[in-house]
Amino acid sequence: MKYAPLLYFTLSSLATVAKAQESNMAAGSSATVASSGTNASPATQPNSNPYPTRAPGSTSAAQTTAAPSTPYSSSTAAQPPASTTLPSDKCTWDQKQIPDPVKLNPVASYSYQPESPNVQAPGAIDKDILKMVRGLTLEEKVGQMTQIQVGQIIDCNGKLNKTAVEYWVGKWKVGSFLESPGNRNGIYQWYSAEKFAEMTDAVQEVATKMGSKIPVIWGLDSVRGANYVKGAVIFPAGIATAATFDPQFAYDAGRIAAKDTRAAGAHWVFAPVLDIGVNKLWARTYENFGEDPYLSSQMAYSSVRGFQGDYKTDRTRVAACMKHFIAYGNPFDGSDRANRHVADHELLEYYVPSFKAAIEAGSATAMEAYGAVSGETVMLSNFYLQTLLREHLGFKGFMVTDWGEILSQVTNYKTARDPEQAVEGAISRTSTDMSMVADDESFNNITIALVKSGRISERRIDQSVARILQAKKDLGLFTHPFADKELQKTVGSAQDIKSGRDTARESITLLKNANGALPLKTSENVLFLGPTLNSSRYLSGGWNVHWQGPSEEEGDAVYQGFADTVLTGIKQVTGSPAKYMPAVDIDGTTKYDWDGVIAAAKQADKVIIGLGEHTYAENFGNIEELALPQAHIDLVSNVAKQSGKPVITVLVQGRPRLLSSIVNDSSAIINAYLPGSYGGLPIAEILYGKVNPSGRLPYTYPAHSSQASHTIWQASYVPYVPQWQFGYGLGYSTITYSNVSVSSPTLKIGSPLTVSVTLTNSGAYDQKEPVMLFTHQTYRFGYAPDNYRLRAFTKVALKAGETKQVKLTLKAEDMAFWDRNLRRRIEPSPVVVAVNPYTHPDIQATVQLEADPQHVLERL
Ligand SMILES: *[C@@H]1O[C@H](CO)[C@@H](O)[C@H](O)[C@H]1NC(C)=O
Ligand SMILES: *[C@@H]1O[C@H](CO)[C@@H](O)[C@H](O)[C@H]1NC(C)=O
Ligand SMILES: *[C@@H]1O[C@H](CO)[C@@H](O)[C@H](O)[C@H]1NC(C)=O
Ligand SMILES: *[C@@H]1O[C@H](CO)[C@@H](O)[C@H](O)[C@H]1NC(C)=O
Ligand SMILES: *[C@@H]1O[C@H](CO)[C@@H](O)[C@H](O)[C@H]1NC(C)=O
Repeated sequence: MKYAPLLYFTLSSLATVAKAQESNMAAGSSATVASSGTNASPATQPNSNPYPTRAPGSTSAAQTTAAPSTPYSSSTAAQPPASTTLPSDKCTWDQKQIPDPVKLNPVASYSYQPESPNVQAPGAIDKDILKMVRGLTLEEKVGQMTQIQVGQIIDCNGKLNKTAVEYWVGKWKVGSFLESPGNRNGIYQWYSAEKFAEMTDAVQEVATKMGSKIPVIWGLDSVRGANYVKGAVIFPAGIATAATFDPQFAYDAGRIAAKDTRAAGAHWVFAPVLDIGVNKLWARTYENFGEDPYLSSQMAYSSVRGFQGDYKTDRTRVAACMKHFIAYGNPFDGSDRANRHVADHELLEYYVPSFKAAIEAGSATAMEAYGAVSGETVMLSNFYLQTLLREHLGFKGFMVTDWGEILSQVTNYKTARDPEQAVEGAISRTSTDMSMVADDESFNNITIALVKSGRISERRIDQSVARILQAKKDLGLFTHPFADKELQKTVGSAQDIKSGRDTARESITLLKNANGALPLKTSENVLFLGPTLNSSRYLSGGWNVHWQGPSEEEGDAVYQGFADTVLTGIKQVTGSPAKYMPAVDIDGTTKYDWDGVIAAAKQADKVIIGLGEHTYAENFGNIEELALPQAHIDLVSNVAKQSGKPVITVLVQGRPRLLSSIVNDSSAIINAYLPGSYGGLPIAEILYGKVNPSGRLPYTYPAHSSQASHTIWQASYVPYVPQWQFGYGLGYSTITYSNVSVSSPTLKIGSPLTVSVTLTNSGAYDQKEPVMLFTHQTYRFGYAPDNYRLRAFTKVALKAGETKQVKLTLKAEDMAFWDRNLRRRIEPSPVVVAVNPYTHPDIQATVQLEADPQHVLERL
């Protein structure tokens, strides 16, 4: 989603609010998560001064041009923002509002209800819902199809404006709101579940009494835990979750996000993000599960199950929203929302499978993707949003647009003459059910007029309203419209923190380790350098407290202790504070005392340098060059060459930035991705060997900018020589692979093969090892075969000295591909079956794929 620009203000004295995370975790008791609702709390007082949201298209000065503060600067005094950003005559900024005074005291642990094995999924519409739809006026129906952003109903202090709620809910009968007040109206806010729920409950109070008297469904971007709810664990980004090669972590993040989102009175998450990340320049690379269709599908399935569970009966779960349909992850120039060129059969082959898996897992809702695919905007496409999504994939849930996407047809893409044509196209050509209008009345007004003039049939409207109301019923909104206070006690519990950290522990990927540079010994004299080691916000990236992450002005103080850093992790692991110098800032614009850095490095046994990216989301993260800032590259080179000491580089980044000389200048390299608010300790544990790294790259790590769009599945005749291949990663132990065997020399439809391989941990450490089965067709008549395709994987734990046999299954059906006539079929050939080929090139066998190339397994 794209939001209107944010405004950030300078804050004071927040540092005094910060307290050790340990004290937040100290609470003792445990609880059971009940699946029942509670009653509303009274509405907060509306403030009488409006503060207008800035016009779309203007940029946020604070995000784009604010000079980064020096690492040791103390925050300046709290002051009302300049009149250019906040007209003080229109709104009195109440500093006492900041920060949210709610003191969190979460239970240490809680139990929860695992879901039943049968997937709950959207299906036929219930009779009572159909009856309800028939009883609504046209205005009430169109209101259900409308979603408005929270900034429209809060004032500049983040307080609910009841008059505005009554306007939207009473006059326009709006059925849905979205987003966190912490992103809105220029105020620093990180809402606790309790405070958030006061607001959502107050809106619900109005909604159940006015307009159509139907509770609203509130949507939140809880994309990595409930990242907008204060104290909730901000999980590693999707890309890190994928790197674990264990879908259980996607499940856990989903389940915990669901509970914490419900605690805040929201019922619907705009997640999981299932885009296939092809172009590594893309600023949203970190949000999804990487570049591989199979890995992404496995993660998608578990994630949706985690969010939803038995969502029709369990009130601790939410509706998932698989997004963004479709092919968003391959913008032709890497910039967010740029158009992409994807032939329909390639769409089916690479981009559709993760969505198919999410539908199988029961995803209750879907979101369409920004921009144009093969020249046609998704928003107006009958093919993408009707033929493909509804008819081919059989999706029965409700579908929402992305932010302002209908009007953008006129204002941005130039694919409609006027708003009327855009609305008419979106409703009549596609299966759009809800418009994330965000900011105005245009969608309601125009839709009502179009129905009245006969340009859109009321039957079509009824179809969408029924899907939306069915979801509201399934989520229990008619019986439990208000937030569950019991759940609020579990937000940020030690149990959840452990879950977030475990995900990070298994995602962090060791990419190089020459001469046993790692793990460190506590007896070694280590110097720590670089901006990402003393930062919580860089560990989480975008979608972290705010859409763009905390501002430089807020700094880490915003977490109030609900986060760690690598340095606090080091202290926890070694028992003493790390010797640390910042050396360079995150954007490489300022160098700090490099003479002192070199002098200190000469005194050390080893030097750890933490580099990476500042926080960003969507188009704010657009870059022109994929390389890390030159000052980051120079720091590694200078320290390595001038001190002569082994340098270990730790990357904290949303996308694989080009490393150039860093690769050779570093003895060891760790890719931590964005490990989340509690990612500091896991990084420290890996550095010191308390945890043995077991993450593997969920994307191709390019060596040069020409490789920005290289993937594991690119045509095999194009050389695949990236910096590191998809699936690459090391551990501290040595795992030997032997005795690979296949259960049959031929692969035929209906007769799966078993591929077995023996793994021996011949090193000194216990090791978790992701075992991946790839295939490669030696030729494929008429269609360039993929370099490699991932077909199966499992993660096995091997104690030091232990041997295990691992079995994976391969089906001939897996080898079917979509041809240009949109038929899925098999071209026979010898097939190389390879296990972890990039670390174990000898572990492969060849089987004969036998099939009739005319036999169609599936067609569109
Ligand atoms: C509250 O909303 C109403 C209606 O939109 C608006 O006229 C008024 O200015 C708003 N008040 C504040 C304090 O934002
Ligand atoms: C609704 O549309 C009518 C024309 O059909 C227009 O006169 C009116 O200003 C519109 N109202 C809003 C709030 O957009
Ligand atoms: C780390 O950053 C904080 C500000 O977030 C600062 O107060 C602290 O001194 C820094 N730590 C070190 C060791 O430099
Ligand atoms: C790194 O070292 C290898 C082997 O010596 C060399 O081939 C390569 O060009 C070097 N890369 C860079 C970026 O210096
Ligand atoms: C190799 O694998 C095959 C098939 O699983 C098995 O029968 C055989 O015993 C294994 N041999 C060794 C030496 O592990």
